[in-house]
Amino acid sequence: MAKQIDVSDLNIYYGSFLAVEDVNMMIEPRSVTALIGPSGCGKSTFLRSLNRMHEVVPGGRVTGKVAMDGQDLYGDGVDPVNVRRHVGMVFQRPNPFPTMSIYDNVAAGVKLNSGRMRKADLDELVEKTLRGANLWEEVKDRLNRPGSSLSGGQQQRLCIARAIAVKPAVLLMDEPCSALDPISTVAIEDLMYELKKEFTIVIVTHNMQQAARVSDRTGFFNIAGTGKPGKLIEMDRTQRIFSNPQVKATEDYITGRFG
Ligand SMILES: Nc1ncnc2c1ncn2[C@@H]1O[C@H](COP(=O)(O)OP(=O)(O)OP(=O)(O)O)[C@@H](O)[C@H]1O
Ligand SMILES: [Mg+2]
Repeated sequence: MAKQIDVSDLNIYYGSFLAVEDVNMMIEPRSVTALIGPSGCGKSTFLRSLNRMHEVVPGGRVTGKVAMDGQDLYGDGVDPVNVRRHVGMVFQRPNPFPTMSIYDNVAAGVKLNSGRMRKADLDELVEKTLRGANLWEEVKDRLNRPGSSLSGGQQQRLCIARAIAVKPAVLLMDEPCSALDPISTVAIEDLMYELKKEFTIVIVTHNMQQAARVSDRTGFFNIAGTGKPGKLIEMDRTQRIFSNPQVKATEDYITGRFG
């Protein structure tokens, strides 16, 4: 289920503006990869290129290749909607469907994908997914309340449940904890540790401790100046990036000397 991602010679544009230049990256299945770097260096842009969300922006386009288990996501005849079904995404601000119930937030994508399902099967899937997102105990008695009735941290776990309910191969998370308190953050980090047994996870974070805690590998992106493209400067095992980076700019960033 979890897939390997191979990015080669990837350039990402907004119209004529080259936002991210020449990324080559391999991401192993069943791992957490953290992407770090200063604001504006293209982390979110790169992340959205992994599920073809980038091209939703007018003028958004890429050159190069993103392969999942060998299949090029940008190949001829590939349906971007289908790609997004297999590569889920969680955003910075929890965005549950506000008026939809907690239950339906989890079930919505599944209903859309698999058409009619027996109520008992759907109930079972919703429970299993909410358990998988470490949220079941907190919501099992109020599944019919709206998604917006939950706390911020609970809403973010609901969004993760919604994303994993359709069993994606890859889960992308763009600063998923930046709007959360420390306790909710720990809950999400614990969850990532569990989820990587089944999914390939890529997370953007500004929190160095978080990158060090949750990820197996870390990629450092940087930008030479305003208007210049972001680049992947260095990628390695997380422990190595934080203890013995090979590039001075990486060391300066992780030790807080800039960024
Ligand atoms: N919709 C857009 N249209 C045009 N340019 C954009 C758009 N979104 C982002 N950019 C530009 O692309 C570059 C990379 O932006 P991006 O949001 O990917 O950076 P980031 O590393 O995620 O930053 P942050 O850490 O602040 O979230 C920036 O120069 C930004 O201004
Ligand atoms: Mg961003």
